[in-house]
Amino acid sequence: MCGIIGYVGHRPAEAILVAGLEKLEYRGYDSAGVAMLLPGGVEKVRAVGNLAELRGALEAAGLPAEGAEGGFTGIAHTRWATHGRVTVENAHPHADDSGEVQIVLNGIVENHADLRAELEAEGRTFSSETDAEVVAHLIARYFDGDLTEAVRKAYAELRGHYSIVAMHVEAPGVLVGARKETPLVVGVGEGENFIASAIPAFMAQTRTMVTIENGEIVTLTPEGITVTEADGTPVERAPEEVEGDEEAAEKGGYDTFMMKEIHEQPEAIAETILDRMPHDDGVDLSDVDLSDEFLAGVRRIVIVACGTSYHAGLVGRYAIERWARIPVEMDIASEFRYRDPVIGEGDLVIGITQSGETADTLAAMRLARERGATVLAITNIMGSQATRDSDAVLYTRAGLEIGVAATKTFVAQVAAMYLVALRLAELRGTLDEGEVRRLVAEMKAIPDKMEATIDSESERMLEIAKRHYDQSFFLFLGRHIGLPVCLEGALKLKEVSYIPTDAYAAGEMKHGPIALLDESTPVVCVATDSPILDKVLSNMEEVKARGADVIAVATEGDDRVPRVSEETIAVPRTDWVLQPLVAILPLQLLAYHVARLNGLNVDQPRNLAKTVTVE
Ligand code: F6R
Repeated sequence: MCGIIGYVGHRPAEAILVAGLEKLEYRGYDSAGVAMLLPGGVEKVRAVGNLAELRGALEAAGLPAEGAEGGFTGIAHTRWATHGRVTVENAHPHADDSGEVQIVLNGIVENHADLRAELEAEGRTFSSETDAEVVAHLIARYFDGDLTEAVRKAYAELRGHYSIVAMHVEAPGVLVGARKETPLVVGVGEGENFIASAIPAFMAQTRTMVTIENGEIVTLTPEGITVTEADGTPVERAPEEVEGDEEAAEKGGYDTFMMKEIHEQPEAIAETILDRMPHDDGVDLSDVDLSDEFLAGVRRIVIVACGTSYHAGLVGRYAIERWARIPVEMDIASEFRYRDPVIGEGDLVIGITQSGETADTLAAMRLARERGATVLAITNIMGSQATRDSDAVLYTRAGLEIGVAATKTFVAQVAAMYLVALRLAELRGTLDEGEVRRLVAEMKAIPDKMEATIDSESERMLEIAKRHYDQSFFLFLGRHIGLPVCLEGALKLKEVSYIPTDAYAAGEMKHGPIALLDESTPVVCVATDSPILDKVLSNMEEVKARGADVIAVATEGDDRVPRVSEETIAVPRTDWVLQPLVAILPLQLLAYHVARLNGLNVDQPRNLAKTVTVE
């Protein structure tokens, strides 16, 4: 996830671009860069680090300078590294060999390796390790005076999910943008126009905007904008006025960050898995600095984490044990280090922490390292402390999460654990090739299934929440892979609604918790498809016999769960081990609506903080 902005108009571009980047910095701050078309050609400045570094570099370069004829044209980028290390060479904007084409990109070009080989064979030279650079070379290959046409031809060859903005020395006063999945919006001014990843980037300049939809290409000049579909068919789109303040714009039309982030979950999964599954036959974890030899020989795995991240680890445990047949222990990070853990060489300790700054998780990781274990951090934040307290890092690519209750980072962590589990299984030969291919295909299909679930169940969960939002207690029950989903659903509900919840392994219920049940208790059961669904159904019968109100999450097509529940929410079918990625969605929505119906601020629940740096 990165932030991009472009400007074309009658004012010097630099200050507008840098001010726009400030509003996009939450999307990444590994490096930043600006390129402007000036009378002498392109003036480009890039710097590793946040915007303060870029500002320093601009000043050192003696910018701002005079504008070019035909208007001021410029593009800028703030990077969240995916392909290629955090270096100046890998910072955007990227260029072709001549430097005449300059581009910025947000997202991932999946077929970059093939394209790069093809372009290099034509004699083009690359100067970065990024996937993005192929876009500049492709545009250069096709440019014969018309930038829009060149972008259109390049777009036809690119696979992945990305948005780009391009400019060319021979086309001053022109910017061309294209969108495939990742967001792109145009700001319409007077004698000037803007293009960016998000509205706040240009909101100080204009409140008139045009959304660029998936598969569209847009050409901006100071005088106007032209939108077409990728095949050139013209698109008519009336500009809209943005209402509200910048925070409202950052929420992208949602009332809260939590709801926005719930909707961003398909993208979070796509970003986390797709370029690590570039082919259909396995997982590529070459961005994670652990050798295949080490992974193949791991004798034990210990997962340490807190809160929601701990629940993601629980899902990962089931996947690793089932697919890779390696024993996995789970520990709450704040407990791990006080039990003098027996740990050492040959053990792999996985610390899961979205912020990368949770004090207890960091302390557990450090202790494991001191004792000779190899530590892998799974985190969402580049350069966070966890990346320094570990031997290797696997980044979730959920984008910055602002809501305090973790949603999209949870599913991204779960997806990351599946990647680890599958890679281990491949290396150890514990799954045959056909099974690996099937699971890879199932995982690639997950983002669409999540989107369908969020779209179809949002209203439904609001209705269910309306019936239960004034309850004094909710019980969550599930077994095996459904248990961490329940633990996470219960945590979500209690932290945003302040209603007491408990989550239990359904088989444990008769050993105590069943005493809690009466006719007013809502019991949320995760009863998705699994080899032990029969057992879950028996437990649900026991609950129903006590008169409790059963709300069940089931797999679509199942006709047994509805017989033992008042409400059944059917989620799409996938491999049963992957089911948590879709099963958690209704529970997040339930927590959200119950809290909102109680008039609470879901983005900032009381007493909580997004980053817990105290032990
Ligand atoms: C709950 C939540 C917390 C965090 C926990 C660990 O919604 O967000 O339980 O999961 O504080 O945080 P990280 O993952 O940053 O280590």
